[in-house]
Amino acid sequence: MGTYMMKLKELGANQETVLRENSELKEIIFMIDEERNGAGSGTVRGVGGGSTSSTAFLGYCLYIKYIHMKYDHIPGPPRDSFLFGHTPTFFRVMRSGGFIHDTLLEWCETYGPVFRINVLHIVMITTTCPEATKEILMSPKYPKAKSVYKKLFNLFGQRFLGNGLVTAQNHELWYKQRRIMDPAFSSLYLRGLMGTFNERAENLMSKLTEAADEKTEAKMLHLVNCVTLDVIAKVAFGVDLELLKNNDDSPFPKAIEMCLKGMVCYLRDSFFEFKPKNRPFMNEVREACRLLRTTGAQWIKNRKTAIQNGDDVPKDILTQIIKSAGKEESMTKEDEELMLDNFVTFFIAGQETTANQLAFCIMELGRHPDILEKVTKEVDDVIGMKQDITYDDLGKLVYLGQVLKETLRLYPTAPGTSRDIHEDIVIDGIHIPGGTTCAFSSYVTGRMDKFFKDPLTFDPDRFHPDAPKPYYCYYPFALGPRACLGKNFAQMEAKVVMAKLLQRFDFTLTPGQSFDILDTGSLRPKSGVVCLINHRNHKK
Ligand code: HEM
Repeated sequence: MGTYMMKLKELGANQETVLRENSELKEIIFMIDEERNGAGSGTVRGVGGGSTSSTAFLGYCLYIKYIHMKYDHIPGPPRDSFLFGHTPTFFRVMRSGGFIHDTLLEWCETYGPVFRINVLHIVMITTTCPEATKEILMSPKYPKAKSVYKKLFNLFGQRFLGNGLVTAQNHELWYKQRRIMDPAFSSLYLRGLMGTFNERAENLMSKLTEAADEKTEAKMLHLVNCVTLDVIAKVAFGVDLELLKNNDDSPFPKAIEMCLKGMVCYLRDSFFEFKPKNRPFMNEVREACRLLRTTGAQWIKNRKTAIQNGDDVPKDILTQIIKSAGKEESMTKEDEELMLDNFVTFFIAGQETTANQLAFCIMELGRHPDILEKVTKEVDDVIGMKQDITYDDLGKLVYLGQVLKETLRLYPTAPGTSRDIHEDIVIDGIHIPGGTTCAFSSYVTGRMDKFFKDPLTFDPDRFHPDAPKPYYCYYPFALGPRACLGKNFAQMEAKVVMAKLLQRFDFTLTPGQSFDILDTGSLRPKSGVVCLINHRNHKK
């Protein structure tokens, strides 16, 4: 035993944790032994079925012990519990309103470029090592992590993202969908969307005009959410929601929010669905998923009818989704479900992330008058007083582009991704046995001193065209084959909305609001970014 402990110590394992866990394991074995012998409670509980289950439990505990021995040479925080690993820490952080990504950041600073997290028998590593990030994310050899993405197939038993583009783990199934979807994101096609981006952003400007005239507070997160939802519904599915005109009586924003909330609980708490008190919430989440899927089914049906009638339909995302499902005559139930998977995927992936980026951007500009002044000047120089922003204008809004990039460094609204590592690899000199899941967090790397000097300072000049490009430590859209399909779409949309806002209005953050981040699967500003809006001088 002495040599074994020495070896673990040498490998960097936490000696105290190992000692404590060894005595916990001994206690479990002792209790099982007592139960088998009918002792302890003085009943016959340990006989028959009880004996089988206690043996199975003992086997499971020994398996966990084996996993610990296999992976404990990888540095990591002390486990809270032999069985549950680091889960209690996550629960504590979540319950106290803390922010999980900050805990990961702390662990990264303490344990280095690769560290281990244990949950039951599962081991997940997190790495910030740029070389490993490059190797793993850029290669199709490392599939999306089953333990994460398979879970998003369903939410509490209701099909959710299924095998759609974000969640598909099988390379062929994913590649087939991505190839079909690519044309709807080509730069030629995106140029054609400028009209819709302009038009929907104008609806926001009308709302802000009202707020400025009536001197009422504007809840910017809510308003930009309406814009991005309007845009995705129109551009992707050819549907006019007009949320800002119709006084947002649509059920979609709430449904998306419920799905995201459900996603976080479902992913982070394996026991959530077994607690009776959570049933009403779970029912609401299932209902929200169903609403999105039945809406998808209806919109797909309408589009198919239009195609059959020979109507002129746009080559938008909906058309591509229908194409990806194959021929009508041979369409299986699973093909139909796959179309709905992608419908929900685009509704969720294509909206919230951009809205949150816009809201964070407005928040940071509100906090930095000098940067606000500089970016407003650029907008004035490039677009002046004209109403319709062109594709070419977007290319000239260089500093605004830097502001948007810097926003995603501090607030990567989709903060991370994960991959399965099937074969042994070495990261930063540490041997990682195959069969591990590896998590990557752009939030963590974006806030590390090692990669970005004074990381908490909002400084768009980090992304000046002449500045060195961050080396595999900045990836708000992920990297490699599974990188975001909508990156250019999102940044065009964000630029149009921001440029119009800066062109027309002065805004100030109402005092007293927090700058905290709310973790709802995606990251969003907790305060909702409440602003007072004024017309710019040249409009008065
Ligand atoms: C600021 C806005 C956005 C951010 C920060 C963002 C970020 C990301 C990230 C990090 C991923 C990888 C997810 C993962 O590995 O689990 C991703 C994937 C994806 N995003 Fe985005 N996204 C944004 C906007 C959009 C928009 C507007 C669309 C569609 C219109 C979109 C469609 C997708 C799709 C389809 C994927 C899956 C790609 C694949 O695996 O082939 N995203 N996005």
